[in-house]
Amino acid sequence: MQLHSLAPFTIFKLLLLTLQLQAIPILTTLSPCKNSCGTIPINYPFGLEDGCGAPQFRHMLNCSTDLFFQTPSGAYKVQSIDYDKKSMVIYDPAMSTCSILQPHHDFVMTDIQSAIIPPSQDTVFVLLNCSIDSPVLNHYKYLCFNLAGHTCDELYGSCNAFRVFHLMTNSSPPCCFTSYNTLKFMSMNILDCTHYTSVFNSNNLKGVGPLDWVYGIKLSFSVPDTGCESCKQSGGTCGFDTDTEGLLCLCSTTTNSTRECAAGSIISKGVKDVPLTHYLLVLLLVAFLHTWLR
Ligand SMILES: *[C@@H]1O[C@H](CO)[C@@H](O)[C@H](O)[C@H]1NC(C)=O
Ligand SMILES: *[C@@H]1O[C@H](CO)[C@@H](O)[C@H](O)[C@H]1NC(C)=O
Ligand SMILES: *[C@@H]1O[C@H](CO)[C@@H](O)[C@H](O)[C@H]1NC(C)=O
Repeated sequence: MQLHSLAPFTIFKLLLLTLQLQAIPILTTLSPCKNSCGTIPINYPFGLEDGCGAPQFRHMLNCSTDLFFQTPSGAYKVQSIDYDKKSMVIYDPAMSTCSILQPHHDFVMTDIQSAIIPPSQDTVFVLLNCSIDSPVLNHYKYLCFNLAGHTCDELYGSCNAFRVFHLMTNSSPPCCFTSYNTLKFMSMNILDCTHYTSVFNSNNLKGVGPLDWVYGIKLSFSVPDTGCESCKQSGGTCGFDTDTEGLLCLCSTTTNSTRECAAGSIISKGVKDVPLTHYLLVLLLVAFLHTWLR
């Protein structure tokens, strides 16, 4: 193919196609919702901006310096989100652990949070330095369970942070291994224990000392089944109307739709489903045929 045989029309068309190809990546980054905070991906059902994600999870996340999970008792640093296992690990910077003792503190979630993103089954709360009048040592004794054979003495003995409980009284003040439900229904004041710590992946703690436990809270979330899949497949991001909380499929910064983005849109279809090289080849072929057939 000689250069002078390319008619101006074809050159113009090629130019247009090239421009179009360049424009695609630019347009797709104009999604109305931020899809990460630092290194943590933010996907449905979560959202950072109001109107992104599922309305049930509204106002829960905040990406100020890092990603934070907001509850009535504070802002907890999010360490990771696993979208396959539907879990999120958060860390309470004001919580006591084996290595640091911090002042009395409650862990409180909203009713909605308790329902849709509660602490996981394998997250154990350890109530420490309880008074002998504590309900969990008396009437609600059954709320405490055996954690793979670990004892209060072991915690008070092997953790620098907890040794102080032991030293002051020269005996071991009671402690209690319990689940989130206990904290949900009784505040630390009612529980009459001065501190708590929490550990996750508690199924693997047999024979593992408190120094090696993983401190933090693992939350397990449920994803509302609202037809987000069809929106995603059409290239959109699931969101909602901030006034009515009605579901929306956010297609670009300028277009919303109730269910899915317009079919045949180059932005939503071409890039997501067809590799760019494939796309280029077809375009070159069309341009070539155009020249050939003249
Ligand atoms: C689309 O929805 C988002 C989230 O509710 C909203 O912020 C935006 O203004 C809407 N855009 C249009 C064009 O309706
Ligand atoms: C965002 O997170 C920070 C934690 O650094 C917290 O202090 C702040 O109150 C949060 N803001 C909102 C709007 O939730
Ligand atoms: C442990 O609990 C007792 C009350 O039961 C309290 O007086 C004491 O200060 C607590 N210890 C620490 C280190 O907070």
